Amino acid sequence: YFLGIDLGTSAVKCILVDEAGSVKAGHSVEYPLLQPEPGWAEQHPEDWWNGTADCIRALLAQSGVNGEEVAGIGLSGQMHGSVFLDSQLAVVRPALLWCDQRTAAECDWIERTIGKETLGLLTGNRALTGFTAPKVVWLRNHEPDHYKRTAHLMLPKDYVRLRLTGAFGMDLADASGTLLLDVAGRHWSQEVLGRLDIPAEWLPPLYESNAVAGRVLPEAANRTGLIAGTPVVAGGGDQACGAVGVGVVSRGIASVALGTSGVVFVHDDAYEADPECRLHSFCHGVPGKWHRMGVMLAAGGSFQWWKNHFAYEELQQAATEGRDVYEYLTALAQTAPLGSEGLLFLPYLTGERTPHPDPKARGGFIGLNLRHTKAHLTRAVLEGITFGLRDSLELVKQSGIEITELRVNGGGARSLFWRQMIADIFGYPVVTVNSTDGPAYGAAVMAASGVMQKDIPTLCEQWIRVVDRVEPNPANQERYEAYYSVYRSLYGTLKDTFH
Ligand code: XUL
Repeated sequence: YFLGIDLGTSAVKCILVDEAGSVKAGHSVEYPLLQPEPGWAEQHPEDWWNGTADCIRALLAQSGVNGEEVAGIGLSGQMHGSVFLDSQLAVVRPALLWCDQRTAAECDWIERTIGKETLGLLTGNRALTGFTAPKVVWLRNHEPDHYKRTAHLMLPKDYVRLRLTGAFGMDLADASGTLLLDVAGRHWSQEVLGRLDIPAEWLPPLYESNAVAGRVLPEAANRTGLIAGTPVVAGGGDQACGAVGVGVVSRGIASVALGTSGVVFVHDDAYEADPECRLHSFCHGVPGKWHRMGVMLAAGGSFQWWKNHFAYEELQQAATEGRDVYEYLTALAQTAPLGSEGLLFLPYLTGERTPHPDPKARGGFIGLNLRHTKAHLTRAVLEGITFGLRDSLELVKQSGIEITELRVNGGGARSLFWRQMIADIFGYPVVTVNSTDGPAYGAAVMAASGVMQKDIPTLCEQWIRVVDRVEPNPANQERYEAYYSVYRSLYGTLKDTFH
């Protein structure tokens, strides 16, 4: 078996995949998200390690699989988070996460110091609040004692790698989100490091995603039930792993990931970035390849917020009927008409990244009237998230990338109603595949690739099959188009009220 580990923001998920690509079993363990100030998001790296170790142990126990039967391990994880360790490998402070918005001033400073255009040429990207380099500069500016103690910088899943194998390492796909990588050249950018005065020695060695980057330590074997010496491949950031997990490893197919964040993702055979870096240009988890993506910060996150705070009755009802509350809410949304009778929802609940790189952007319901019920508001939330993702798709189309099909993954992909909405709003067929474990599955593919010495696209070809296809409905498409053009105008109109 191959063990795929996805270190998410709310939980870690582990799955076992056999040599034919079938998922044998899965398990997940949650951990807390700390929000010590508005706009801040942190986690304790120790919680990640304990969660992962408990998750692996429980997965092996419940599936009846022995540690000896695990031939290789792949790691996927939430991207961009900053883990600061001292020279004794002790955690210096809780990690700042991808959705943390405290670094606006540091982003300005980075773009002024290097020059926005030069930074784009060096890294393929803009300085965005979620990225890692601004977090390092924030530490230097605000917690100089912590900065002085720091000796190692890594991303969330690479801390788990360190605890599991004792080895430092990072894959190129995840490293792309640090803003310290020369994405085109696939190596650390000495120039960016030098100009930002960040010590190059803090950074781990880089690997392609399917390269073996360590082996399980005896103490980690005791803790997890794995066997010492089991190879652990470099793996990838959750977006690259998610794309591999649904077979987006060549041009033509885009993936739409509906997790807490929402991502429109396309494969690139050669490095490309637009001069304004409106999409992220990153290394892919496929060796020697790249990808571009647009990232919405609160996609599933907006729906989750709606469920948590405004769906008390639905939660009770769903619990009584033994149904999933999201299923209940999407059924409720379906009772409202397309376009929610003119009600639009802006999903910028934690600021936004693509296409509006603005940590101060805020959400809202626009166009409420007395006829609107909870069904309308619920539908408007789903439509607003989908319109926001369409903005990223437009940037992909403007780059001249041809798309024939969308592969949807993440929690949101389970709803046929939402998939049809995506097909209608995006104007492309929406497909789901047999592997529904997203990034964890992609991590398992990378492990299998490294251990079985088969390339990743070949494994995807053999393991991943389309199971469902939803075509856009032309009449709905036309009606959504009118609402989308209103949605598009709202950010510009409301921008000044957010500040
Ligand atoms: C991608 C990003 C998010 C996180 C979510 O750039 O920030 O999708 O990776 O885990």
